[in-house]
Amino acid sequence: MCGIVGYVGEGQAASFLLDGLTRLEYRGYDSAGIAIYDGQKIQVEKSVGRLDSLKEKIKDAVPLGGLGIGHTRWATHGRPVEMNAHPHTDCTGEFVVVHNGIIENYLTLKEELIQQGHTFKSDTDTEVAVHLLEEVYDGDFEKSVREVLHRIEGSYSLVFMSKKHPDRLICTKQDNPLIIGLGECENFIASDIPAIIDRTRRAYIVKDGEIVVVKKDAVKILHHDGTLGKLEVFHITWNAEAAEKGGYEHFMLKEIHEQPKAVRNTISPRIAKDGCSIVMDELQWDAEYLSSFHKIFMIACGTAYHAALVGKYYIEKLVRLPVEVDIASEFRYRSPILDEQTLAIVVSQSGETSDTLAALREAKKLGAKTLAITNVVGSSVAREAEQVLYTWAGPEIAVASTKAYTTQLATMFMLAVYMAGIKKNISSPRMQVLIQALQRLPEQLGKTMEDVEQIKTFAKQYGFREDVFFIGRSLDYSVALEGALKLKEISYIHAEAYAAGELKHGPLALVVEGLPVIVLATQKKVYEKTISNIKEIKARDAVVIGIAVEDDHELEKYVDHVIKVPVTEELLNPLLTVVPLQLLAYYAAIARGCDVDKPRNLAKSVTVE
Ligand code: G6P
Repeated sequence: MCGIVGYVGEGQAASFLLDGLTRLEYRGYDSAGIAIYDGQKIQVEKSVGRLDSLKEKIKDAVPLGGLGIGHTRWATHGRPVEMNAHPHTDCTGEFVVVHNGIIENYLTLKEELIQQGHTFKSDTDTEVAVHLLEEVYDGDFEKSVREVLHRIEGSYSLVFMSKKHPDRLICTKQDNPLIIGLGECENFIASDIPAIIDRTRRAYIVKDGEIVVVKKDAVKILHHDGTLGKLEVFHITWNAEAAEKGGYEHFMLKEIHEQPKAVRNTISPRIAKDGCSIVMDELQWDAEYLSSFHKIFMIACGTAYHAALVGKYYIEKLVRLPVEVDIASEFRYRSPILDEQTLAIVVSQSGETSDTLAALREAKKLGAKTLAITNVVGSSVAREAEQVLYTWAGPEIAVASTKAYTTQLATMFMLAVYMAGIKKNISSPRMQVLIQALQRLPEQLGKTMEDVEQIKTFAKQYGFREDVFFIGRSLDYSVALEGALKLKEISYIHAEAYAAGELKHGPLALVVEGLPVIVLATQKKVYEKTISNIKEIKARDAVVIGIAVEDDHELEKYVDHVIKVPVTEELLNPLLTVVPLQLLAYYAAIARGCDVDKPRNLAKSVTVE
């Protein structure tokens, strides 16, 4: 996720901007830039790659001045190239902006602004904000920023700077973090606490919808309605490392908790304003294009492979097209049958996994149409596939994938609904019900994390065991696979997932007294069958932890413990049931003293075969 910094004061802006951005490097980025007002003009400097490239570029002529903004960009709209790096300027170079988030209605605004004569220099959504400011500016900076905010939709934190008002920066936020650091004869703006921790321990945490005018000796907070807000000072007690993790002990826990926001970012730009259909500007498929496919392949590794298993279910159920799911490292060595009537979908958080990339190339070679579902803009799979759907999860740092999985699921669900809509396989009322359920998910995801005490207890109680089984049927089986992977990769407990119906064909031999078995039972069609499997397990005196939906009052009769998740459409259950499994793995790893974020022998991005 992008990092934002701003400075207004008696010192040199460049010094804080570069230090602050360095402190925000952990957020992930692919380019960086700063803009500084030197008393006459605004000087903008940008560079692709690490911050060091930017530092190197300006080392002989660091821009001087006490007013400036800076940014590390994690590409969303537009590839990671210099012209897309922030800060962005208007046509005159008198207004500058940095932005973190997504401006959802940028295409409409961009068209409008181009018609009004504005010239755009980048592919970003951000640039509309600064041209809009130029367009509405009437001499009153605050009022003009307010007008810009009336026009833009989406999630953002924004900092505006103007040559015409060199004594201030104006910033605002909606669903993205922004803080003001309070100094002596200087004030700071940042998207996160680590950026300011070396300069001040006093901060103001900006609230959604507020506009904050920051001068070197004054900070004015304006509510949405224009009334003045109170500057409540927050005293920072964290050290730098804790601050990077947002106060969480590990990146994995932070990323688990980021899931409501990540899923919201993934879905909200793709739901039509009337809430009745899915919009995929990236694809713009029609019935004729879809009818050219007779088969779909989904290819991925690790967690992305588990997500693809759920994706298969979505597409087969809603679109009625056959889907084959393949592990990327197996795919290309088994003479797969693909041709121009095949759509190959590769799923990859990083977009750099070498087996997935090789599988994509193989699919292309065989003539298939290709689509990448990835989290990293400009990544190799994004560049090489014909079409891309981004998951908008934000950078994932912990090796164990969490928010990437849930956003991949949300993306594939929307893709299936979108395709079903084009093929007229789904009625409008049904589509609306599914979309409404999708919109409720971010809040429901939040609920699944509210009470973790029970999960902590299980983790402590069963964390000493060397073997754990995960079972389920249908969609629950796919989630069981992901739950077992999470547990084994970070806690080193031997965890195996089985289709519940397959238990008697071998693994039941391993079920003994006290063995913890986690049973997912959220799919109505196979519910009774799952209960029968639970009885088989209980007959061997194993301990069963059931994962069920809130309105299930039956399961507790058959199991030792139950963890419940909010009620949603059955198809969407995997997005909720995976959360207790992620948390269980996390707390089991903690109980066993494991290095959660960097498990032994594993890498975040596997770029070797
Ligand atoms: C590694 C990571 C996993 C990830 C897998 C696929 O094994 O540790 O968390 O699921 O690679 O990565 P990708 O970036 O292609 O989704």
